[in-house]
Amino acid sequence: MDNLESMLSEKRIFSPSTEFSERARIGSRAAFDALVAEAERDFEGFWARLAREFVTWDTPFSEVLDDSNAPFFKWFADGRLNVSVNCIDRHLPAKAEKTAIIGESDDGSVTHISYQELHDRVAKFANALKAQGIEKGDRVVIYLPMIPEATVAMLACARIGAIHSVVFGGFSAEALRDRINDTEAKMVITADGNMRGGKKVTLKGQVDKALEHGCPSVDTVIMLEHIGGVDTGASSAKELTWAEAVEGQPAECEPVMVEAEHPLFILYTSGSTGKPKGIVHSSGGYLVNAAMTCSWVFDLNDDDVYWCTADVGWITGHTYVTYGPLALGVTQVIFEGVPTYPDAGRFWDMVERHKVSVFYTAPTAIRALMKLGDEVPNQYDLSSLRLLGTVGEPINPEAWVWYYQVIGGGRCPITDTWWQTETGAHLIAPVPGAIDLVPGSCTLPLPGIMADVVDDHGHSVPTESGGNLVIKKPWPSMLRTIWGDDERFQRTYFPDNLPGYYLAGDSARRDQDGYIWIMGRIDDVINVSGHRLGTMEVESALVAHPEVAEAAVVGRPHDVKGETIVAFVVVKGDRPKGEAAEAMVKTLRDWVTEQIGPIAKPEEIRFGDNLPKTRSGKIMRRLLRGIAKDELPEGDTSTLENPAILDQLMGKD
Ligand code: PRX
Repeated sequence: MDNLESMLSEKRIFSPSTEFSERARIGSRAAFDALVAEAERDFEGFWARLAREFVTWDTPFSEVLDDSNAPFFKWFADGRLNVSVNCIDRHLPAKAEKTAIIGESDDGSVTHISYQELHDRVAKFANALKAQGIEKGDRVVIYLPMIPEATVAMLACARIGAIHSVVFGGFSAEALRDRINDTEAKMVITADGNMRGGKKVTLKGQVDKALEHGCPSVDTVIMLEHIGGVDTGASSAKELTWAEAVEGQPAECEPVMVEAEHPLFILYTSGSTGKPKGIVHSSGGYLVNAAMTCSWVFDLNDDDVYWCTADVGWITGHTYVTYGPLALGVTQVIFEGVPTYPDAGRFWDMVERHKVSVFYTAPTAIRALMKLGDEVPNQYDLSSLRLLGTVGEPINPEAWVWYYQVIGGGRCPITDTWWQTETGAHLIAPVPGAIDLVPGSCTLPLPGIMADVVDDHGHSVPTESGGNLVIKKPWPSMLRTIWGDDERFQRTYFPDNLPGYYLAGDSARRDQDGYIWIMGRIDDVINVSGHRLGTMEVESALVAHPEVAEAAVVGRPHDVKGETIVAFVVVKGDRPKGEAAEAMVKTLRDWVTEQIGPIAKPEEIRFGDNLPKTRSGKIMRRLLRGIAKDELPEGDTSTLENPAILDQLMGKD
């Protein structure tokens, strides 16, 4: 759009329209401020009120926050509930006929699943899990595509108190095996494969491979026959198809009421080391924030059609596909395919056909679709939209304004939601009927979220100064620990230098209005297309290759993906050049795909005789980040043991 730049310079602030605010749940700044004040005045009373409003408890809680063993906080600990009852049963019979899920396949076929059907499917599958010996507390790995059955499987686990761990379908057999072994899962639920962009992708083979490499805890594999016509092989575990598993199972399953603190799921995410962290979420507290943010931030109502494009393999697909929207009893779209198949208008065509009113996606998707030109979305009727959202990475103002103008027709607020796998739900995001928007800022912490930007000693930094983003008080949906590693949990998120604060791992600044601007990660984590990856994870994969001696990985800014991966590699023997180098690049890219998955594949690999290191042997990543951008590193290089290596890695040798 020609006028994007002028819009940006003329208009910094976008206020919610009267039309939007009038029907919004929190429809004014005064109403928002009143909630903030309520939480400050009576922190526990505020959360207790919301916990009663948004969650149906089987046994009401009497205790709100137990901080006696901080940072191992407990919320609503003597309350009992069942999450699947909250997401399904409590909407029945009133919403029995209401569509819970509109499932759209890659090929465009559509199924509508009502709340009653969802109930029956979940109950049958929960009974099937029980029949295979799954009990409360057992871990079940779900390795499924983005289809309604993924949500059914998650809710079936929740119904019987089993702890699910969803592994993104794009992760390789090796990554799957590590997650199965870390959780000691008794069962894996998978599919024969899925369709993406008209192509068949097989999944079951990865499970077989993972089990072949040793997953002693797995007794049973349940496989959904989803695409048909592929060789599904056989694993070492007992195998049955989804259809066989549910055959003859009744459509009623008594829910297991669990303590509020009972783990609902474990979800792996990347950190500063080579080993992903199994983030543990609770049942009660998690659901409170999931439902409350769907209500406040997405303003979801009974007549909305909501669509979150995230995969269930990520936290967004947990909180804003399975748990939050269903807890509110809304209708949502679940889409198996990709945004550009059969053509670049797929997303907008779906918005038109399903009359989507609230749409939530990632900046990387927005930037990719923006590149295809305005004429694509302009062919569709997008007038059903009333609210847009983004998540996963900072959104650049150009993409924001395009989303606002071309997709939202200048009518829909954009809620830029900051949160993490660890936070369970949105923590900083504009409540759209109440908060003026500034493109690029996730604006203000939600009521009850005590966010601040502090220095390394925990002191608030002045306005416009960068610092560590922290949350000064616990909140109900915070992670409870890292599975099997309480010590790493404490060290990573509640470091000794910050007095009891949750350290998010992001740097941020606040502007004069108190708005928060996320500046990026402070640890060795990179964000590729909104997917979080640890540089050490990719390095560990590279050095596991028999021909690699050493590797260092950094992120390089990318105009669509946010960041891409650049790897610097030292091989055993002579540095490869010419064709040998090209062949080695291919080998290593394939290797990383096999070890982790295609999302971790380096975009570029450069070979050196060694890596830039300090005299004490520490790799100077700061320099490598510059070299990856083809910028000769600025600043002091005098501490380098081997300064000549810089020229070599810049390609001058
Ligand atoms: O760096 C922040 C970035 O994504 C990280 C969390 O990644 P993950 O746990 O995979 O969860 C992604 C989906 C919630 C954060 O530490 N991030 C997330 N949302 C935003 C963001 N950066 C800027 N703006 C956001 N809205």
